[in-house]
Amino acid sequence: MAYVNEHYLKLAAGYLFPEIARRVTAFAADRPELAKEIIRCGIGDVTEPLPASAIRAMCGAYEELANRATFKGYGPGTGYESVRAAIAEGDFRARGLAIADDEIFLSDGSKGDCGNILEILGSGNRIAVTDPVYPAYVDANVMFGNTGAAIVGGGYEGMTYLPCTAENGFLAEVPSADAPAPDIIYLCSPNNPTGTVMDRARAEAWIAYAHKHRALIFWDAAYEAYNRDPNAPKSIYEIEGAHDCAIEFRSFSKSGGFTGVRCGYTVLPKRVMAYTRAGTAVALHPLWTRRWNTRSNGVSYTVQRGAEALYTAEGKREVRALVDFYMENARILREGCERLGLKTWGGEHAPYVWCATPAGHDSWGFFEHLLRNARVVTTPGAGFGRCGEGYFRISAFNSRANVEEVVRRLARV
Ligand code: MLT
Repeated sequence: MAYVNEHYLKLAAGYLFPEIARRVTAFAADRPELAKEIIRCGIGDVTEPLPASAIRAMCGAYEELANRATFKGYGPGTGYESVRAAIAEGDFRARGLAIADDEIFLSDGSKGDCGNILEILGSGNRIAVTDPVYPAYVDANVMFGNTGAAIVGGGYEGMTYLPCTAENGFLAEVPSADAPAPDIIYLCSPNNPTGTVMDRARAEAWIAYAHKHRALIFWDAAYEAYNRDPNAPKSIYEIEGAHDCAIEFRSFSKSGGFTGVRCGYTVLPKRVMAYTRAGTAVALHPLWTRRWNTRSNGVSYTVQRGAEALYTAEGKREVRALVDFYMENARILREGCERLGLKTWGGEHAPYVWCATPAGHDSWGFFEHLLRNARVVTTPGAGFGRCGEGYFRISAFNSRANVEEVVRRLARV
């Protein structure tokens, strides 16, 4: 008899973004005459063409595969050396952060990494996530058995939720001394969904907390390219002590427009430890290396060449221009919402604008209201957790014309 992973049966609902897509499809089927007018600012999916340097590099890589002399078969499971070196140099050492080439692990994106990393950690870890939170962290932990049952009204038993509210500026605070200490803490800055960025002092407090409790920080920096706040770390390794207790997740999805191409990476410094039940410290770096070499043959050669090209002088200029473009969209959306009297957060160092729903609307109700009356798709805050109720998220990943149209339509509903 084959047994099922019963942890999957605890999952409370479908994943957030397919549920949104389902509702949009249902609306379009119901009102086909309006379907063409729908503007999608729900899922944060990029719309603009890839940087030319990445396209050229990928085309060149395909040409190499067409010749016996330059053909490539299996690559290293953790990524080609030159690509790891370009990343370690470009994203870390050039900024004064000591990260070795072999501390970079290429993958098909940070969504997978945030869950896959749990494979090298024991069962029974107490997991902390912010509320609201990117739902992939939560669902992956449910699947791995790190939570109990779903709670009516939202959340899972056994998971520690760090409330992020208007009162604390939507930034996670370290738990009080008398609260049970989590073993693994997911932090995301610039934050998805609220668009807020964590300041240096708060990041330092988290690293101190992790040291005190021998906990791990999972630092999701997928939106790092949007962070231009000099007071907010772009990498957790800017914080002293982070090399011992933090794993960072990065993505080319939102910087290089790779949501469809798929490439990201984890940074796992050799000094990061976890513990056996007997209390012996074990370095995670060899385990993560082992995991990749056993469970994957790595990211496709052509995609890695595309990612590597983002670190050339031209590639960096193109990434900057792409990010500037979406940031201008975010400004238009944020200021447009503010002019309408909506209270907003984010959108300054992140491609997401987080808004309070107008009085009398809950998150899903306002989602439906905007879909039906403005043909604009947003993401209901409640989909990110209980503390997201009463808010909605607008993604700045769209064409300029669509973003301007969204602001005009919002003014009419
Ligand atoms: C989002 O909309 O939250 C993201 O695009 C989802 C993701 O990156 O997987």
